[in-house]
Amino acid sequence: MTASAAAAAVLPSRAAGDTIQAGFIGAGGRGYYCMERLYRGSPGLVTVTAVCDTYAGNLNRGKDRVQTMGGNSPKTYVDYRELLADPSIDVVFIMTPEHLHFPMTMAAIKAKKHIYVEKPLAHTIEEGAQIVKAAQQSDRIIQVGTQNRSNPFYQKAKEMVEQGMIGDVHYVRAFWYRNFPSPTTPAPWRYVIPADTDESNTDWARFLGPAAKRPFDKQRYFQWRNYWDYSGGISTDLLVHQTDIANYVLNKTVPVSCMASGGIYAFGPPDDREAPDTLSAIYEYADKFHLNYSCFFGNDQYGYGEQFMGYEGTIEVLNRSEIHFYPQKFGGKPPASVAARKEVHMTDRTMDNVSVERHIRNFLDAIQGKAKVIAPPTVGQMAAIPGHLATLSYRNNRKIYWNEQTGRYRFS
Ligand SMILES: NC(=O)c1ccc[n+]([C@@H]2O[C@H](COP(=O)([O-])OP(=O)(O)OC[C@H]3O[C@@H](n4cnc5c(N)ncnc54)[C@H](O)[C@@H]3O)[C@@H](O)[C@H]2O)c1
Repeated sequence: MTASAAAAAVLPSRAAGDTIQAGFIGAGGRGYYCMERLYRGSPGLVTVTAVCDTYAGNLNRGKDRVQTMGGNSPKTYVDYRELLADPSIDVVFIMTPEHLHFPMTMAAIKAKKHIYVEKPLAHTIEEGAQIVKAAQQSDRIIQVGTQNRSNPFYQKAKEMVEQGMIGDVHYVRAFWYRNFPSPTTPAPWRYVIPADTDESNTDWARFLGPAAKRPFDKQRYFQWRNYWDYSGGISTDLLVHQTDIANYVLNKTVPVSCMASGGIYAFGPPDDREAPDTLSAIYEYADKFHLNYSCFFGNDQYGYGEQFMGYEGTIEVLNRSEIHFYPQKFGGKPPASVAARKEVHMTDRTMDNVSVERHIRNFLDAIQGKAKVIAPPTVGQMAAIPGHLATLSYRNNRKIYWNEQTGRYRFS
């Protein structure tokens, strides 16, 4: 977006001291967390006047958080369209499962709200493209929740690459490893289902939205990441953060091909999970660049990270909270320019909270005409396309090719 477009999208004039009015759609794990980050990172800037959730437990919890941290009592909704119909709401935070991002974002654009929508931008490449188009035809500000771009350590990594600290980069190794059981997640993405849940307090039809109709199913509702109707699994839940950050740090866009492989290997008797808990994806980009991705839910020794591997050095960002730089050793005889580069090691365990606070603040600054959003829908879509390609490659057991000119994929 151009600076003039950002400036044009300022909020309607308000009395001095008036706050931005916000609605939260989805107050589950992420919505509840982002509310806290909003209050802590942008104190006094926003009043959350509405919360919408289809599970009464989370709706009440979200309302409680607003009362406790914001000091006001928000209106509550089960139908997001009713929230969007309130003209006093300036911005919405869409924090629902992946398959709902498209209908909710499109409706919010139509309702003329500024939008912070969680990643992935959408559940399919085609839906994402429609959001990008609708956003381009609108003057609303949209920020996609790929908050690592707002993480000072990734910003430092980008700066170091641009300064030439690691030389030419043709290879990134990215990984995300987890293990289970944990108290809240006894098996991969099997989050604990609240004991009080039943059809009277959990609106199954609204959760399904555009997805295939099925009888009420608590596992699908609370553990939606395991099912293709609502999620692309690892590819669109985790990997999109890492393709996004490769794009950001190295100025990349989209790959030309992907080969993904994996399976449901971890733990327990076979169940109805569809998304793999083990996934490798290999990408080629047009400009001699390769991204090697690995994710496994049965061992978390190596955590989460990206390693930017240049001819002259390596930068790694680990667990969103550590950055390391190592110059290449060239068999003990490095060129003087490389030998002069000192290792860098920095750690700050608060960095992920900081990133989310900065990402939200960047969004709020943008709607006031003071900044440009760092993750507009075009950026969200470029991060998501490789994720969707990995899901398609995995599910079809074939290599997949992306044509950026036509916006279409084909299998080998
Ligand atoms: N940026 C990040 O690092 C990050 C981290 C975690 C999750 N996320 C994203 O946040 C989103 C939500 O994930 P989560 O972990 O909070 O899931 P969650 O299941 O904990 O929460 C989803 C919430 O949406 C509610 N919901 C479902 N259908 C609804 C509807 N039709 N209308 C209103 N509310 C509805 C559910 O009741 C639940 O409270 C996902 O897109 C996920 O990818 C992003």
